[in-house]
Amino acid sequence: RAGRPGVIEAYRDRVSIPADARVVTLHEGGTPLLPAPYLSDRAGASVYLKVEGANPTGSFKDRGMTVAMTHALHEGSKAVICASTGNTSASAAAYSARAGLTCAVLVPSGKIALGKMAQAVAYGARILQVDGNFDDCLELARKTASEHPITLVNSVNPVRIEGQKTAAFEVCDELGRAPDLHFLPVGNAGNITAYWRGYAEYAADGVVTSTPRMFGFQAAGAAPLVSGEPVARPETIATAIRVGSPASWAGAVAARDASNGRFGAVTDEEILAAYRLLARREGVFVEPASAAGVAGLLTSVTEGLVPPGSVVVCTVTGHGLKDPDTALGTPVRVEPLPVDPAAVARALELV
Ligand code: F0G
Repeated sequence: RAGRPGVIEAYRDRVSIPADARVVTLHEGGTPLLPAPYLSDRAGASVYLKVEGANPTGSFKDRGMTVAMTHALHEGSKAVICASTGNTSASAAAYSARAGLTCAVLVPSGKIALGKMAQAVAYGARILQVDGNFDDCLELARKTASEHPITLVNSVNPVRIEGQKTAAFEVCDELGRAPDLHFLPVGNAGNITAYWRGYAEYAADGVVTSTPRMFGFQAAGAAPLVSGEPVARPETIATAIRVGSPASWAGAVAARDASNGRFGAVTDEEILAAYRLLARREGVFVEPASAAGVAGLLTSVTEGLVPPGSVVVCTVTGHGLKDPDTALGTPVRVEPLPVDPAAVARALELV
């Protein structure tokens, strides 16, 4: 594939859209599969990061949104709606702007990261702050779309998953094989469903000869898939995955079972430790939710679940600048200095 043509163009034969549809794209996908030397050392494995923050709106949501928006436009929709913890809304807002559609986003009051709100504002979405959590927002969005002429672009819209599965294709195309293990954060469970669909499709068509074990990680305060029942009041610093009742529950369970995989929970402390480690050891600044998969890799290594020498991919789902408050919340060390080279040298203990 030359350059970065967008996931529909890159995988024309595998992502179906109506023949005469105008493709709505911001040239998403084609994100780095970055070797992670520090994590590889820690894991005794070859660890790669699939850096989804490199997408046009800074998260993996763009892969599904290009397909959802292409269908919406083709069907003659004038408006789209979604519920979101922030990234789906940023993506929906951007692709709506590109398509010339009106976009309404339902977000949980006070629980969306600052950068994501800035995106919705910048792209010109109608922002409705709901006095409730993400699960409440999703229920409202579904009801509204079922009763009124407005298209739902959450991942309960099946074409979103079709777009998101392209990340698994890219991983296989780049490695020349499927990984042994795939780690990722899980919230509403669309992405683990999508990756598994992509890997299974490539294996069924003989493009690869194996599929990875899927390891999905949730925040301990929002881990319905781990406990096996919905969480009424989910809580975590990783607001992107603050979801108590995942819409793609069945898809996630199917991915785990068919791949001999696993769900796990990581605490906010473990998430923040992985978040800092990614930035400071690998040079990859992600948002907190994205670090949940890496936190899961580290706990899995400790538990002896990562065979030495295996090929491991961790999807880091969103860019660190999405959530500046978390970045700045850790005690910031800023040192005041006069305009004086000697003072610089002293501050850096060079003299
Ligand atoms: N990581 C980030 C950065 C996310 O924004 C999300 C989901 C996930 C992981 C989990 O993916 O829901 O497919 O299991 N964000 C949704 C949103 C809920 O509204 O942007 P999932």
